[in-house]
Amino acid sequence: MQEVMTPTIKITKVAQSRVSQVDINNNIVMGTQFSDHMFICDYQNGEWTNARIEPLTLIPTHPVAMALHYGQAIFEGMKATLGKDGTPLVFRPEENAKRLNFSADRMGMPLFPEDLFVEALKQFTALEKEWIPTQEGSALYLRPFMYADEAFIGMRAATSFKFIVMGSPSGPFFSRKIKLFAEQKYVRAVNGGTGEAKAAGNYAAAIRPTEYAKAKGYDQVLWLDAEEFEYIQEVGTMNIFFKIDGKFITPDLSGSILNGITRMSVIDVLRDKGFEVTERPIRISEIKEAHKNGTLEEAFGTGTAVGIAMVEEIGNNEFSIKLPEANPVSVMVNDTLNAIKVQDIEDKFGWIVAAK
Ligand SMILES: Cc1ncc(COP(=O)(O)O)c(C=O)c1O
Repeated sequence: MQEVMTPTIKITKVAQSRVSQVDINNNIVMGTQFSDHMFICDYQNGEWTNARIEPLTLIPTHPVAMALHYGQAIFEGMKATLGKDGTPLVFRPEENAKRLNFSADRMGMPLFPEDLFVEALKQFTALEKEWIPTQEGSALYLRPFMYADEAFIGMRAATSFKFIVMGSPSGPFFSRKIKLFAEQKYVRAVNGGTGEAKAAGNYAAAIRPTEYAKAKGYDQVLWLDAEEFEYIQEVGTMNIFFKIDGKFITPDLSGSILNGITRMSVIDVLRDKGFEVTERPIRISEIKEAHKNGTLEEAFGTGTAVGIAMVEEIGNNEFSIKLPEANPVSVMVNDTLNAIKVQDIEDKFGWIVAAK
């Protein structure tokens, strides 16, 4: 086997860290504070070059940078935590590397070397260690992303791109239950579309329907399939699970659902705890029926940003499903994931990667 050489990452540190000016353990609003550095790498002439970590700064952008016009832009979201002995840990970075490349391929963008992705995340996280909050359930949110920066007007794949990683301290999210608006006018994704990719445009398309749902008193949109508005896909920026009659179901990866890394981890945790989990198409009518006959026990969303978000209600103008107050399994799954991430319990799945 040919050995793959990871290119050297050149590191230029800030003269003075800003971390002491930010109260990373209290009142931190997700996505508003950014750590000192960024990892950056350029794609030119068919290869990724100049991998470096530098002080976070603005990047000059040409007004016709192709990402701005044609939307070749993808991203990832992941979290870094501190282990028991203070070692920074990254959760399943190789899965994000794979998913980034899945998205890149779908959007006509170059693949990013997966070993360099993991190495970049490790070196970046190690450098930004002081930015990792220590409060339970909080983390340094890591945002890898890639976009087309070639200046060109015309519809084709760009030839130059940037891959960047940034860090943003985030507090625990697991505070409030969520109400889901079962959307029957707008759709997030169609079969054959880009819903399976973490493409920026998917999120743009979701903004207005999410605002409408919020104006009606809901927290997030429950996305249904584009043909019948019947099959449940996902919720906001999360995958969704239901517990019916003691067993779990979650929509299968039908081609229009994002393959969530929390989703795949939750499936493993639930099975490990002895629960049956089935990935299959789920009709909204089935959830209504389970609610009516008293077998709908719990529902929760799963995603990196929020961890586990328990569902309180699902509805729209025509129906309302109120979930039971108690969510013992949702709480257990959330606690288990959080405990693995800070080495409070054994990482028997081998999910955490030390960043040093
Ligand atoms: C549309 C969508 N679905 C699901 C997820 C959950 O994915 P993950 O668990 O990898 O964060 C996300 C978040 O990345 C998302 O944006």
